[in-house]
Amino acid sequence: MKNIKNTLFSHKEVEIGPNSGYDNYIMAIESSCDETACAIVKNGREVIANVVASQIKTHEQFGGVIPEIAAREHLESINVVIDEAFRQAKESIGLEPKDITAFAGTVGPGLVGCLLVGLNAAKTLALVYDKPFIGVNHLNAHLCANYIDTDLKPPFMALLVSGGHTQIIDVESYSKQTILGETIDDAVGEAYDKVARLIGLPYPGGPRLDKLAQEGNPKAFQLPEGKVDGYNFSFSGLKTAVLRLVKSFDGQEMPVNDVCASFQERVSRTLAKKLKNAVEEKGYSQVVIAGGVAANSEIRKKIFDFQNDGYSVFAPPMKYCTDNAAMVASCAYFNTNTFDDVDTEVFSRVK
Ligand code: KG4
Ligand code: ZN
Repeated sequence: MKNIKNTLFSHKEVEIGPNSGYDNYIMAIESSCDETACAIVKNGREVIANVVASQIKTHEQFGGVIPEIAAREHLESINVVIDEAFRQAKESIGLEPKDITAFAGTVGPGLVGCLLVGLNAAKTLALVYDKPFIGVNHLNAHLCANYIDTDLKPPFMALLVSGGHTQIIDVESYSKQTILGETIDDAVGEAYDKVARLIGLPYPGGPRLDKLAQEGNPKAFQLPEGKVDGYNFSFSGLKTAVLRLVKSFDGQEMPVNDVCASFQERVSRTLAKKLKNAVEEKGYSQVVIAGGVAANSEIRKKIFDFQNDGYSVFAPPMKYCTDNAAMVASCAYFNTNTFDDVDTEVFSRVK
């Protein structure tokens, strides 16, 4: 039974999660960065409705996400994505708002002004429909994207790679996770976006760099590996090395595809090596990748190659790699030990 802290959202003795004994329909809202999203997921794995309003077009002209503009766009889109999720659920299985078991919202990490929009919408829905409310950590949610449409169960070793984080996480059970290592400077997605900008690619740089890299020679340039102990990572030296390489062309035409491929090779090798060490050390048979950068073609390829050594490899389909609300609903179902209160606050960084 969940620990019900307060009566405001939790008038009834509702139980959520795999042991609840009945079907759970969780509606979740995600608004931590530049995607306004709403989804309804049955029992943590089956997506009933999934709506994402992306702001990429808006931020493209500025070369990155402008927090104040992002928050305003969330305000404009939030009711639209909620209405559309309810509509999809009604159309697909006849689900009404009153049939939702609980409402969930991302609490952080993310942009505070953006998070506030989604979280307040989720709390309001919980109040209006008299259901429990669950606050969800965005990073845990990225991992839970791997539960959608699969039968994955812990334990497994996870690599979480996003715009803000790079972590190796030991997932012992649905609720027990230990961070074994993380970046000491730039996150992988951040490194991708910065290097893309150095090369002159428009925002969002990561996926564009990935595309060009697939046309290039990964052995064209030897780039340095960030030397850090254990399962930690460092990508700022690599970024500086690319800057030096770019400058070395000094007016001559730069083989852009080869630069991209060499950078991508270095990053994906380092990530795969450390993930392999971690899973070997723990003796698990399953590995998982998650986060926006898990959409990267070469990182996926190198980690799926673990299958040749007998590992089961999980990676969400592209639409659940980048920010979405289905992963938040799944996380509320699998990861949550408590319902949350009306005064639950957003946070920008991992505490
Ligand atoms: O997880 P996410 O959607 O947002 C955060 O929570 O950070 O990740 C966004 C990051 C951006 O840095 C974006 O450039 C990167 O994921 N990304 C990629 C690819 N697709 C998205 N990086 C490399 N290759 C890709 N294919
Ligand atoms: Zn994310």
